[in-house]
Amino acid sequence: MKLFVIFLFYFFSLSLPSYSKRCNLKDEKVLLKIKLALNNPYHLASWIPDTECCNWYCVDCDPSTNRINALTIFQGNISGQIPAEVGDLPFLEILIFRHLTNVTGEIPSAIAKLSNLRMVRLSWTNLTGPVPSFFSQLKALTYLDLSFNQLSGSIPPSLSLLPNLAALHMDRNRLTGTIPESFGAFTGSSPPDLFLSHNQLTGSVPKSLGSLNFSRIDFSRNTLEGDISFLFGRNKTLEDADFSRILFEFDISKLEFPESLDTLDLNHNRLKGSVPEALTALENLQQFNISYNRLCGQIPVGGKLQSFTYTEYFHNRCLCGSPLPAC
Ligand SMILES: *[C@@H]1O[C@H](CO)[C@@H](O)[C@H](O)[C@H]1NC(C)=O
Ligand SMILES: *[C@@H]1O[C@H](CO)[C@@H](O)[C@H](O)[C@H]1NC(C)=O
Ligand SMILES: *[C@@H]1O[C@H](CO)[C@@H](O)[C@H](O)[C@H]1NC(C)=O
Ligand SMILES: *[C@@H]1O[C@H](CO)[C@@H](O)[C@H](O)[C@H]1NC(C)=O
Ligand SMILES: *[C@@H]1O[C@H](CO)[C@@H](O)[C@H](O)[C@H]1NC(C)=O
Ligand SMILES: *[C@@H]1O[C@H](CO)[C@@H](O)[C@H](O)[C@H]1NC(C)=O
Repeated sequence: MKLFVIFLFYFFSLSLPSYSKRCNLKDEKVLLKIKLALNNPYHLASWIPDTECCNWYCVDCDPSTNRINALTIFQGNISGQIPAEVGDLPFLEILIFRHLTNVTGEIPSAIAKLSNLRMVRLSWTNLTGPVPSFFSQLKALTYLDLSFNQLSGSIPPSLSLLPNLAALHMDRNRLTGTIPESFGAFTGSSPPDLFLSHNQLTGSVPKSLGSLNFSRIDFSRNTLEGDISFLFGRNKTLEDADFSRILFEFDISKLEFPESLDTLDLNHNRLKGSVPEALTALENLQQFNISYNRLCGQIPVGGKLQSFTYTEYFHNRCLCGSPLPAC
């Protein structure tokens, strides 16, 4: 009988944890502080104390540690700044604040503490201030998206120290200064896709970028200048390149291209020379636009070049031949 009571006691004490919460109490406390800092929005109504926080809306727990590893706040009626308390979720791998036009203020420096972050998306918000250089310390980052904000200042050169970065989205901000020279020195197995369009970047594109095999580059709608012929070449791996509405000025007649090229937009620049013959060899070319430049001569016949319409060639100095009128 005594033994049985002891057995019962052990049975209950051992099984107790399965009735308790998975949710880590420290994480729960931090999440409740975040909710308070955001003025208890309706969007986070499921964040109720002493309920299972791993099941709360907008969060995920790592199944092995039961720690909060993702905070994804998307399209809610949320106003205020990104709370510094997000920095107190040490297991966070994914941090997303997206499509929240009333989220303002600067990117909090507390994010620098989150060394496990793999994906950061703070986009379609109204964040202001600089792009913090602390992102370069978050070595696990593969994806950094700060697009569609009102960020200003220059691009931190130290971002090239991120060894695993696969994509960098900083488009649609108010960034100034030049593209860092260091962006030709990303150390990962392949350099990140670069989306820097719709900013106020100036100067010429550093030659160093020619030594890497980029797949996607969008520099459109900036006031960059000069020659970018070093970004092209048969040996490159470029697939998607948007260099429209910039002030690039160079002769494109002798450019060569990788077979992988699928999109090439060069409209609204100051390009000189003629349409390169090498374009006729590109079987994968789906989108192409060289309108509004200073090109001359006959459009080469072959490949996909005649499958585009006259709007992809018009407004040049003296281009002629199909699909434009005959020479
Ligand atoms: C943003 O804030 C304004 C003013 O408080 C409010 O009218 C609007 O509904 C909010 N919008 C969203 C999407 O949160
Ligand atoms: C957002 O919340 C504010 C105040 O809580 C309210 O006035 C506004 O109507 C809400 N907007 C939307 C789009 O729900
Ligand atoms: C946020 O951005 C939207 C569109 O980008 C704009 O209409 C709105 O006025 C901005 N709100 C604030 C508070 O800056
Ligand atoms: C770029 O890719 C080509 C193959 O397309 C390869 O021969 C070359 O070594 C690569 N260069 C770099 C810097 O990785
Ligand atoms: C392409 O790379 C090969 C070897 O890596 C080199 O011999 C050749 O000159 C390069 N061609 C061009 C056009 O860069
Ligand atoms: C090419 O670019 C020009 C200038 O932006 C634009 O007017 C035209 O519609 C574009 N053509 C196509 C097919 O997108």
